[in-house]
Amino acid sequence: MSRIFNFSAGPAALPEAVLSQVQAEMLEWGDTGASVMEVSHRGKPFMETAAQAEQDLRDLMGIPGNYTVLFLQGGATAQFSAVPLNLLNGKKSADYSLTGHWSKKAIADAKRFCEVNVVCDTSEEGYKHVPSVDEWQLDNNAAYLHITPNETIAGVEFDWLPETDLPIVADVSSTILSRPIDVSKYGVIYAGAQKNIGPAGLTIVIVRDDLIGNFPNNAPRLMDYQVMADSDSMNNTPPTFAWYLAGKVFTWLKEQGGIAAMADKNRIKAETLYAYIDGSDGFYSNPVAVDSRSRMNIPFLLANSDLDADFLSQSQKADLHSLKGHRSVGGMRASIYNAMSLDGVNALIDFMDSFKTDNS
Ligand SMILES: Cc1ncc(COP(=O)(O)O)c(C=O)c1O
Repeated sequence: MSRIFNFSAGPAALPEAVLSQVQAEMLEWGDTGASVMEVSHRGKPFMETAAQAEQDLRDLMGIPGNYTVLFLQGGATAQFSAVPLNLLNGKKSADYSLTGHWSKKAIADAKRFCEVNVVCDTSEEGYKHVPSVDEWQLDNNAAYLHITPNETIAGVEFDWLPETDLPIVADVSSTILSRPIDVSKYGVIYAGAQKNIGPAGLTIVIVRDDLIGNFPNNAPRLMDYQVMADSDSMNNTPPTFAWYLAGKVFTWLKEQGGIAAMADKNRIKAETLYAYIDGSDGFYSNPVAVDSRSRMNIPFLLANSDLDADFLSQSQKADLHSLKGHRSVGGMRASIYNAMSLDGVNALIDFMDSFKTDNS
């Protein structure tokens, strides 16, 4: 068996070293005589593993003591509703930036609970850049400002924050742990795990403590940050396997030198691929404004889209998988999260170059 280079946007590649450890522990985890999936979440072995995973995440991200870390279910999509339910606290509206498919979805769900003030909107151009902050129309009476710092489908990313007194809520599903962020500048950070954290089924929420405790009593209690904080995310059975595996990814990240070291690697990987695309004499192109380009999800188009099917079938044969772009965008997309090596990116570039030679 040989493992492919997996460019999937999510569920995405996991570090091979982590998968090997999990494989070795599959039948007997520690001295439990069972797999981690078969033991109680309330027993000592799992409780210790869960607590260690949280501590490692706190260390990696520098999460301040006045923030609670929750290990939840429901994906980032559940947070599209949980955020307004927890944060509106009597206010009637919330600010949202609209920079891609996922912010659009977050807005649609928020509209079920409040008025949404869209502070910037690039939908008409097809999400090709992030408007500079002086173009944003913030409403300071809103309950919070929601942003999507990396749009997984359009491949649009920004790493700055507007100056505002509103709590900033960020859907970091596809950028968490890929570069350092200053957690203290946010009210809530949330992410589905299946890109840079671990398997699908786990959602991380990092919430500033003063924003907890204002949940309406007629909404699902599992979405109440207070309920989940009071029970250490174990009000009901948590996704134990995903939590355990995420913990192993956090340990692996520490061994790699932490988030700053990953950010360097990620910058080099992305620069290498963009440089090749930009230098391909128009055979390939990336549609996103240079200053808004994602380091994690790199869409690219072939000038001759009649070649798309060939490109995909030949790349697959070359063990370069999941390169098909999202159906709303077309073309290709290479997702290069933490577990994708520079070797994988170089293998993709070698393939792209020989495909170009064969078809020019
Ligand atoms: C930025 C972003 N937000 C939200 C989601 C939805 O996540 P989930 O499927 O975990 O609900 C995704 C999924 O790809 C995403 O990339």
